[in-house]
Amino acid sequence: MNYSSDHPLNKATHLCRAALRDVDACIRRELDSDVMMIPAIGNYIVDSGGKRLRPLLCLLSARLFAYQGERHIPLSVVVEFLHTASLLHDDVVDSSDVRRGTPSANGVWGNQASVLVGDFLFSRAFEMMVVDGHLDVLALLSKVSNTLAEGEVLQLVRTFHLGMTEAQYLEVVESKTAILFSAAAEIGARVSDQSEEIIKRMAEYGMCLGVAFQLMDDVLDYAAEADDVGKPVGHDLEEGKITLPLIHAMAQDAELYAIVEGVAERGGYAEGEREKVRDAVLKVGGVERCLTAAQEYAERAKRALPETENSEIGQLMAELADFSARRTH
Ligand code: IPE
Ligand code: IPE
Ligand code: MG
Ligand code: MG
Repeated sequence: MNYSSDHPLNKATHLCRAALRDVDACIRRELDSDVMMIPAIGNYIVDSGGKRLRPLLCLLSARLFAYQGERHIPLSVVVEFLHTASLLHDDVVDSSDVRRGTPSANGVWGNQASVLVGDFLFSRAFEMMVVDGHLDVLALLSKVSNTLAEGEVLQLVRTFHLGMTEAQYLEVVESKTAILFSAAAEIGARVSDQSEEIIKRMAEYGMCLGVAFQLMDDVLDYAAEADDVGKPVGHDLEEGKITLPLIHAMAQDAELYAIVEGVAERGGYAEGEREKVRDAVLKVGGVERCLTAAQEYAERAKRALPETENSEIGQLMAELADFSARRTH
């Protein structure tokens, strides 16, 4: 993905470039295994170029508190491994064959390999937390990985649950996505021995940013083109995901609700329905309302950010919250 030089992701990447090099080196080391399929798939997905937003948040939050040690490097890798493992599993569960603009790992090596290498990444992340040796971080991240799994199961249980409320939707979003952003931001405060109050504020910042990020992911499923986001679009409903743009739109449009009922009964779109649903969601303001909600979460994230002497980093983290609520890919 290309971003302009003054884009917050680019600024963050530039500012943290030395630490990111260490993160990348650590990723390579930790992907090593005698079982060649593991580094093969691991390197494939890592090289396909994700945004590295979660490690960036971890690195920036350490910088926000002028952290001088080294723990933030492997812990950023742990966070990215938890993310990568959940993507490997997610693409199997969602029958998705494109990720980061290239064939997804399940598309290349098959479902079994993706599930098993995902398990490898989860368990490698835990080995790394033990090496880190701090029980508070181990407690945090084991809770997070448990919640990520719970969130995915909750989403599955709510497949084609047409009566999904906004609160139920947000519960899924917080569990499957936002909690990992929250942990990433919290870790920087933890490694630099900040007070419980500051740690809580950083966790809140990450949580709200994460909700905004997933709200936009769900908007883009209706409003973007697959080439721009590097993964399939128009896919959520056929997978049974009742997301906020659709929840809002169905409340306004009885005809749309009836089409969605049909999709749920058949387990997929009939000819022409994909476009009809997309048009209706856009026309009756489902996307619009979701954009407003994302911006509100970004504002909450920014309010949670504590003031520090490193105001330039704080400013950049605020911009990343706005980016999460406005991103177009
Ligand atoms: C994708 O996350 C999964 C969601 C939570 C929507 P990212 O968009 O951060 O994925 P990469 O790592 O940049 O590909
Ligand atoms: C993202 O859910 C949550 C994950 C933990 C992977 P999605 O299923 O919406 O993510 P994408 O759209 O496939 O990246
Ligand atoms: Mg998916
Ligand atoms: Mg999605």
